[in-house]
Amino acid sequence: MSADALSQEALPYDDVGLLAGLASTRTIRRYRDEPVPERDLRAILFAATRAPSGSNRQPFRFLVLRDGPQARAAKRLIGQSALALWNEKRSRDGYDKGSGEDLSSPKARMAATMQHYVENLSTVPVLILPCLIRYRPATPSEGASIYPACQNLLLAARALGYGGAFTGWQHHVDEELHRLLQIPNDVVIAGTITLGKPAGAHGPVRRRPLDELVFEETWEQSPWWAVDPPGTSHTSAGPKS
Ligand SMILES: Cc1cc2nc3c(=O)[nH]c(=O)nc-3n(C[C@H](O)[C@H](O)[C@H](O)COP(=O)(O)O)c2cc1C
Repeated sequence: MSADALSQEALPYDDVGLLAGLASTRTIRRYRDEPVPERDLRAILFAATRAPSGSNRQPFRFLVLRDGPQARAAKRLIGQSALALWNEKRSRDGYDKGSGEDLSSPKARMAATMQHYVENLSTVPVLILPCLIRYRPATPSEGASIYPACQNLLLAARALGYGGAFTGWQHHVDEELHRLLQIPNDVVIAGTITLGKPAGAHGPVRRRPLDELVFEETWEQSPWWAVDPPGTSHTSAGPKS
């Protein structure tokens, strides 16, 4: 496959449907040990880079890390950081206490998924660093020009049968990553996205019921039409107790 040949190819067809895809783009943290072909990476990154940004400045850049020497080193760095951060969170948020003592509880299963995720982060098929070129001093809303692109990326991955996770695992190794990957100082590494074929199946996202989240006219007044469609799965906010 060459760049010339690929430039003649339309994007792959997907039959998920935009709304169905939105409602089933869950965070996927377990991947099959399969590479992501360039054709699919191109489609996913094309979708990401079609995202909106302030004044259409397009300050987003995506650094794709697969299996080159720098990529392997960066994945290792982020993997070590993730392991340390997760261990801290696991004990701080009491993942092994309360209902977490029962290994079949949602809390314990989440902890097992996270443990597997961080232990295998350095060998995920693809790791992508979404970056923001800062053209003025940081503002509270600057993330609004990078995070929609990240969600586009995850939605496109979902459409093509891949799964991904947006995380902040890179924060503690930010300086090392800038050096290793020759990222300029005025560029912010805004997250870490991992990507691959899901080891399990896609499923519906779980959120609080629509009427708890949508108001009309005044605060906490839910409109009559704020009702979930049939089969909606719910969950409470935040870590499980
Ligand atoms: C701003 C943000 C930061 C996140 N950070 C992490 C993270 O550091 N590690 C991780 O495993 N997941 C992370 N996530 C994924 C969330 O945990 C996940 O989206 C949330 O629990 C809802 O689950 P779902 O995406 O499967 O519906 C993050 C998501 C967002 C939007």
